[in-house]
Amino acid sequence: MEAKYTENMAIFGKTPQLPYSVEEAVNRLRINISFLGSDVRKIMIISSEPNEGKSFLALNLWNQMAEAGEKTVFVDADMRNSTLHAKYDLHREDGKEMKGTSHLLAGNAKLDEVLVHTKYGYGDLIPNTENIINPSMLLESDRFKVLLDGLAKRYRYVFIDAPPLGLVSDGERIGNLCDGAILCVRSAATPKGVVRESVRQLERAGCPLLGIVLNRVNENKGGYYGKKYGGKYGKYGSYYGTYYGSGDK
Ligand SMILES: Nc1ncnc2c1ncn2[C@@H]1O[C@H](COP(=O)(O)OP(=O)(O)O)[C@@H](O)[C@H]1O
Ligand SMILES: [Mg+2]
Repeated sequence: MEAKYTENMAIFGKTPQLPYSVEEAVNRLRINISFLGSDVRKIMIISSEPNEGKSFLALNLWNQMAEAGEKTVFVDADMRNSTLHAKYDLHREDGKEMKGTSHLLAGNAKLDEVLVHTKYGYGDLIPNTENIINPSMLLESDRFKVLLDGLAKRYRYVFIDAPPLGLVSDGERIGNLCDGAILCVRSAATPKGVVRESVRQLERAGCPLLGIVLNRVNENKGGYYGKKYGGKYGKYGSYYGTYYGSGDK
């Protein structure tokens, strides 16, 4: 792809090497998302608990969508516990300090200071580079809603990496502002009751459940949620399963 931007470029010092099975599973998910219709733009990636693979999934989905030619932006809204920036050694090409979501929502940076371009097709992102203790007020401010709505006008897809539903109400708030959510479930680790409660929370938030990804399948022997979701996807096979639309299966 030709160089489109020269300013505000971000570089990933490290990128995950995906096993083929994971790449293929994310690719299927990407294709399924592209059939959801043009009203589904703001998509929250959420889970019940930490460590289920939300950020991993959100980032890979964003990356594949951008590489497929869609204008796509990733918003790191896990302002309490974002690890992406450090984990992937994300930095600006121009050497300036990298600011992110918490700076933007607190009014300490402008959008064009935090929104960076990447070498991945039309993939832009807003990282979170400074974690804060209580971002709830920032998420509740009008600024956040205006941000998401503005991005949804400029980008075909806005993927929002959210904090887990189980801990605080931030996820519900974000979900309320989105067109739908993808629930990431860590295979055999997250109890079914907890997953069910997350589905109810999304319903309460008025956020349609677009699908469930059963992640980290091969780290255990599977079978926990029934064969339907796992199994044939090799090492670390993430797979999106179940339903589009809402309601219990
Ligand atoms: N399908 C997967 N294949 C390989 N590694 C994964 C997968 N899903 C998650 N991980 C790894 O597991 C860890 C936790 O995932 P992360 O996305 O940070 O969780 P969360 O954002 O839900 O807290 C990370 O080190 C991530 O790279
Ligand atoms: Mg995360």
